[in-house]
Amino acid sequence: MAGTRTFSIIKPDATERNLTGAVNKVIEDGGLRIVAQRRIQMTQVQAERFYGVHSERPFFGELVEFMTSGPVVVQVLEGENAVARYRDIMGATNPAEAADGTIRKLFAKSIGENSAHGSDSDENAELEIAQFFSAADIVG
Ligand code: CMP
Repeated sequence: MAGTRTFSIIKPDATERNLTGAVNKVIEDGGLRIVAQRRIQMTQVQAERFYGVHSERPFFGELVEFMTSGPVVVQVLEGENAVARYRDIMGATNPAEAADGTIRKLFAKSIGENSAHGSDSDENAELEIAQFFSAADIVG
């Protein structure tokens, strides 16, 4: 494997505006390879499980509702320091604070509808990837 892996979701606000390819270009231009990718309609059960760590947050219901409101594209990204690199490529969670050229600065509508998710650690990347992909789905 060339480098490490992270898990990504292109969120419903981006798929709704037909921005999958535009987001993927920023990912690839940033030096990461898309080594697995699938467009799905997330179920409530999948979204609640995926965001379980946020279940006590006031925005949890809104977050699950948004993530199930339309198609998402789940991805595995590979490259040098993939977790940190993708967080740089995405920019800050709040698009108002995101740096120029980042996915969230370019495309996000708000802190909730922020176009992309990326894992926050190698451990979580492994757990998140396993929720959506088997080893045979990932071709580097
Ligand atoms: P994500 O990286 O997918 O992980 C948790 C998500 O919760 C985060 O991106 C945001 O989209 C969302 N989130 C964080 N804070 C808020 C908030 N104050 N209101 C709505 N959604 C939020």
